[in-house]
Amino acid sequence: MIFSNHHSLLMNVVARFSVFFDFFQKKVFLTGFLFAVTSLFIWVSCDNSKYPQGEILYTNFCASCHMENGEGLRGIIPPLANSDYVKNNPLSIACAIRNGLEGEIIVNDTIYNQPMAAILRLNDVEITNIINYICQAWGNEYGNVKLEDVKKTLENCR
Ligand code: HEC
Repeated sequence: MIFSNHHSLLMNVVARFSVFFDFFQKKVFLTGFLFAVTSLFIWVSCDNSKYPQGEILYTNFCASCHMENGEGLRGIIPPLANSDYVKNNPLSIACAIRNGLEGEIIVNDTIYNQPMAAILRLNDVEITNIINYICQAWGNEYGNVKLEDVKKTLENCR
């Protein structure tokens, strides 16, 4: 009698433990799964915005003409994505933003000739962030520029 009591007590404990263990395992699995999904999400979104301030400023000040994807408007507004103009001299973007751009320019063998207005509200740091965003967005791999070089360039535009 005592033995069987003891026995059932033991079984009870084992049963409870395995229920707990099962629950615990599921919880660990679920937590791990959520963690993995969250990390992946953060990783992906970080990868898309290496220069978050530059991206926001681009959206607000440039995307209306050069488009969200940097492709520009065929024959009228030159592209920034895959642009030999940007690739050959990323710092020149600083002058284009500060002073505007006028007259014929050639981008990827296409001639453009529409004025781009100066954007006077952007300071040196913001311009640097926009340039760095453009240099790394849409598959561009044009390196990055330093604030001090942007400052020097801006002092010597034209
Ligand atoms: C109102 C429309 C408009 C806006 C807004 C605008 N651009 Fe432009 N952009 C142009 C046009 C048009 C040209 C071509 C100028 C020419 O023909 O001389 C140009 C040319 C350029 C060029 C040189 C050519 C190339 O595509 O590589 C760069 C770089 C550039 N823009 C960057 C910017 C950046 C950065 C911003 C935002 C800070 C901006 N633009 C905002 C219309 C615009």
